[in-house]
Amino acid sequence: MHNLEIGVKDHDEARQGEALLLEATSELNNGRKLYIESYGCAMNFSDSEIVASIMTDMGFKTTSDYKEADVIFINTCSIRENAEQRVRNRLKEFKAVKSKNPGMMVGVLGCMAERLKAKFLEEEKLVDVVIGPDAYRDLPNLIDQVDEGNRAVNVLLSREETYADISPVRLNTNGITAFISIMRGCDNMCSFCVVPFTRGRERSRDAHSIIQEAKDLYAQGYKEVTLLGQNVDSYKWTSEDQLEKVNFANLLEMVALVGPDLRVRFSTSHPKDITDEVLYTMAKYDNICKYIHLPVQSGNSRVLDIMNRTYDREWYMGRVEAIRRILPGCAISTDVITGFCTETEEEHADTLSMMEFVKYDFAYMFMYSERPGTLAAKRYTDDVPEDVKNRRFNEIIKLQQKHSHERLLEQIGEIQTVLIENFSKKSALDYSGRNDKNATVVFPVDERFKPGQYVNVLIERCTPATLIGRIVG
Ligand code: SAH
Ligand code: SF4
Ligand code: F3S
Repeated sequence: MHNLEIGVKDHDEARQGEALLLEATSELNNGRKLYIESYGCAMNFSDSEIVASIMTDMGFKTTSDYKEADVIFINTCSIRENAEQRVRNRLKEFKAVKSKNPGMMVGVLGCMAERLKAKFLEEEKLVDVVIGPDAYRDLPNLIDQVDEGNRAVNVLLSREETYADISPVRLNTNGITAFISIMRGCDNMCSFCVVPFTRGRERSRDAHSIIQEAKDLYAQGYKEVTLLGQNVDSYKWTSEDQLEKVNFANLLEMVALVGPDLRVRFSTSHPKDITDEVLYTMAKYDNICKYIHLPVQSGNSRVLDIMNRTYDREWYMGRVEAIRRILPGCAISTDVITGFCTETEEEHADTLSMMEFVKYDFAYMFMYSERPGTLAAKRYTDDVPEDVKNRRFNEIIKLQQKHSHERLLEQIGEIQTVLIENFSKKSALDYSGRNDKNATVVFPVDERFKPGQYVNVLIERCTPATLIGRIVG
C-alpha cells in the first residue's frame, strides 16, 4: 500500500510546453527516497506516473524535498530552447545539494535525455543516469549499474512500447481528473518540431488496456479522463487476430460508454486528421466535452507549407466550419508560433485574421525557437529579427486576450454543468471547477456539494480568464 501526497505547480504554460512541475511523496517500506520533477507536456507528466509506478515496485518511496532524496529524477522537455535552459538551471541547484551528499543519484529522463543522449554525461558532470522515454522498463537495471559505480545510459527508442500493462501511480491525484495515455510518438515531421526525434515513431496502445484503465479510474471515483497523444486523430489499433480495428472515433465512444457521469476530454487534435466521424461521436454523447484543441500554428498557407503541417488555410477553416456545423457552441483552442523562418508581415497578418475568423476560446502562443536537428534548422534560416518576433508575439497575445474575454462574456447568464475540482486558489470560501468548454468557473462553496460532484452553476460575471457564478441546484 502506498499513500501519495502531491503538489503540482504550474509554471506559465501548463499542459503544452515546459510547464508541469510535479513533486511526489509517498510512504512505502524502508526504501530509498525518490524525488521526481516533471517539465513539458501532459505526456511527460503521465510518463512520470509510469516511472513512479516502476520505482515504487522496486521499493522506493518518494519525497517532496529533493534535499533529502537518494535519487533525483528530472523528466525533461526539449520543445523550445527555454524549456531546456530551465532544466539546466535546475540541475545547478541539484549540484549544490549533491556536493554535500555525493551518494545522491541524479537522473535525467524524457525528451532532453533522448535528444542529448550520452552527451549529457559529458556536459553535466553531476548526472549519473540518462533515460529516454521508451526505456523506463530498464530502470531496475540502470539503477543497479549506478549503484555499482558506473554511469548509465539507455535512450533506445521503441516501435512497440506503450507501457500498456503498467498501472500508473497517480501523482496529481485530486481523485477526480486523470490523464490516460493512448498513444506514443509522432510520425508527422512538422519542420519546427523536435518531438518525432525525442519520442520516436507513432504507436497506438491496446484499446482494451485503455478502457480498463478508464474503468478502474471510474470505479475509484474519478469523474474526468483526458485521452492523451500528440495526434489523437491518428489513433489506430488492430487486435492480434486482426478481427478488431479501433480508430479514434471508436475509442472515444468506448470511453464515453464507461460511465454516463465520466467526462471525457482529449488532446491534441491535428487539423489534417480530425474527421467528421469524431465530431459526430462527440455530438452523440453528452459526457464527451465540447472542447477541441486544434493547433493552427500559422494562418498563412505558405508558412504552413514550410512548416510541413500538410494542410493550408482553407482546409483549416473548413475543419472549423465542420465543428461549428456538427457541434454548435463547441469551444476551440489553438497553438500559434510567431516569427517562423521567413514569415513576412503579410503572413503574420494572416495569422491575426485566422484568429479573428475562429475567435479562439483560448490559445498557447510561442515565439519560434530553432531546435537542432529539425527539418527547419537544416533547411531554413531563423531570420525574423528578435524584436520583430517579439512585436508579432505581443500582437497575437493582445488579440487572443480580447477573444478569450469575449468568449467568456458570451457565457454570462447561462446555467452550466460544472465538475467541482477543488477549492479556489484564492479563497477557501469558493469552489473551482471547469465547464464543458474547459473554462474555469469559480463559485461560493455550498456545503451540500463536494469536490468530485457535478453542479449547475448560473454564470453571473467574469474576469478576463475566469467565469464567476453561483450554484443553482
Ligand atoms: N502534437 C501537437 C503539438 C505538440 S508541441 C500538435 O501537433 O499540435 C506543442 C506546441 O509547441 C506546438 O503546437 C507548437 O505550437 C509549439 N512548438 C513546437 N515546436 C516549437 C518550436 N520549435 N518553437 C516554438 N514553438 C514550438
Ligand atoms: Fe510535433 Fe507536428 Fe508531431 Fe505535433 S504533430 S508533435 S507539432 S511533429
Ligand atoms: Fe516537451 Fe517532449 Fe512533451 S519535447 S512538449 S515533453 S513530448
